[in-house]
Amino acid sequence: MTTELHSGSEVETRAIGRRLASFLGPGDIILLVGELGAGKTAFAGGLAEGLGIEDPVISPSFMLVRRYAGGFTPLTHADVYRVGSLNELDDLDLFEGSRDGVLIVEWGNSVVSAMPDDHLAVEIEVTGPSDRVVRLVAHGAWQTRSLKEMVE
Ligand SMILES: Nc1ncnc2c1ncn2[C@@H]1O[C@H](COP(=O)(O)OP(=O)(O)OP(=O)(O)O)[C@@H](O)[C@H]1O
Ligand SMILES: [Mg+2]
Repeated sequence: MTTELHSGSEVETRAIGRRLASFLGPGDIILLVGELGAGKTAFAGGLAEGLGIEDPVISPSFMLVRRYAGGFTPLTHADVYRVGSLNELDDLDLFEGSRDGVLIVEWGNSVVSAMPDDHLAVEIEVTGPSDRVVRLVAHGAWQTRSLKEMVE
């Protein structure tokens, strides 16, 4: 099941992330897919806002993993762009460390074989300087969850 949305600005992409947050709870995994500058971090920032997190979400490129507490649900934000191997991913211990909250992973497609089947992929396609198509693609148990309010 794929839900397709259009964004015409960074603000709109953030708003989509913020809206998605209301569907999420502890244990949920979101994989962000999209080229450099597509808006993955912007989306993650909106999602954090929607979880009630007040700290701005920054690109975790040099940290790989950042954890944000203080919202309704803790958020773990990872960027695995620079993760060289699946062993290195294991060392990050993403899953154990994030079970009590939501996990969102930028460049999740590069490590999808190591990801649990139950996840929501958020694919951001650049269709113009400020246009994006955002596709929410359900995998595993996500296929039985309704995202239809996302498009209303
Ligand atoms: N519709 C849009 N949605 C999101 N970002 C947009 C949009 N239109 C333009 N932008 C711009 O694109 C950039 C997106 O940056 P962002 O850091 O969120 O991307 P990213 O996918 O996380 O990049 P990286 O691959 O470097 O991690 C910002 O400069 C933002 O202003
Ligand atoms: Mg980013």
